[in-house]
Amino acid sequence: PTIVYVQVDGAERRVEVPSGQSVMLGAIQNNVRGIDAECGGCLSCATCHIYVDTAWADRLPAPDAAESELLDGVAAERRPTSRLSCQLTVGPALDGLIVHVPATQS
Ligand code: FES
Repeated sequence: PTIVYVQVDGAERRVEVPSGQSVMLGAIQNNVRGIDAECGGCLSCATCHIYVDTAWADRLPAPDAAESELLDGVAAERRPTSRLSCQLTVGPALDGLIVHVPATQS
């Protein structure tokens, strides 16, 4: 599946991410800037924060309680579309998913 990462300046990266891998890992392995993922995906750092594109917002399951709690601590503004990208698992249903990288993770 293809995941599209969009920077604040509008720069766009389209990356092939294998099914089963997280949106965070897809960014890290392809040097997409702006996603730090300091904890490596174990749901403790909140530096993998992204905004799901509004066109996709309704097509993803809501964050669970643990993710939602950590989202309260993100560096950039938390919005209704805020997610932690390590908790988004890529699969055929997410082909073409657009995520927006926030201005800062720290
Ligand atoms: Fe640390 Fe997602 S990588 S919470």
